[in-house]
Amino acid sequence: MKVAIGCDHGGINLKDALLAHLKEKGVEYEDFGTYTKDSVDYNDYAEAACKAVVNGECDLGILVCGTGIGMSIVANKIKGIRCGHCHDVFSAKMTRLHNDANVLSFGERVIGAGLMTEIVDAFLFTDFSGGERHIRRVDKIKALEERNFK
Ligand code: RB5
Repeated sequence: MKVAIGCDHGGINLKDALLAHLKEKGVEYEDFGTYTKDSVDYNDYAEAACKAVVNGECDLGILVCGTGIGMSIVANKIKGIRCGHCHDVFSAKMTRLHNDANVLSFGERVIGAGLMTEIVDAFLFTDFSGGERHIRRVDKIKALEERNFK
């Protein structure tokens, strides 16, 4: 498994904790920045990481900004991305089980590193349930993208 990582200046401390956690777990990742605390636009880093998921270079993505909200809004504008914005373990697990989410977002100004690692593990190590009704709903999301995204 390879995970695409993106953050802005508002998420860089929590991203550092995330990278340390992934290293400890032996999970491969690519860090698409940002790499300093200089103010940047979250849009650019969400897009770079999500593109790596869409083109198959990475299997899943994790985005961190101040709240995780800006990153999730951008991510969900990208065709093929289903981003779950999660600050609890239950939601992180359910967004894989029911939504087949391929990107997770959260905010450094919202949660601490301890909870973040549990959320990340729930997201990375839970598979899509594949149940008939969930497949139908994910397929409807894909059909909606076809109708609305150029
Ligand atoms: C940056 O100040 C902040 O707006 C950003 O990190 C994020 O919270 C946006 O949703």
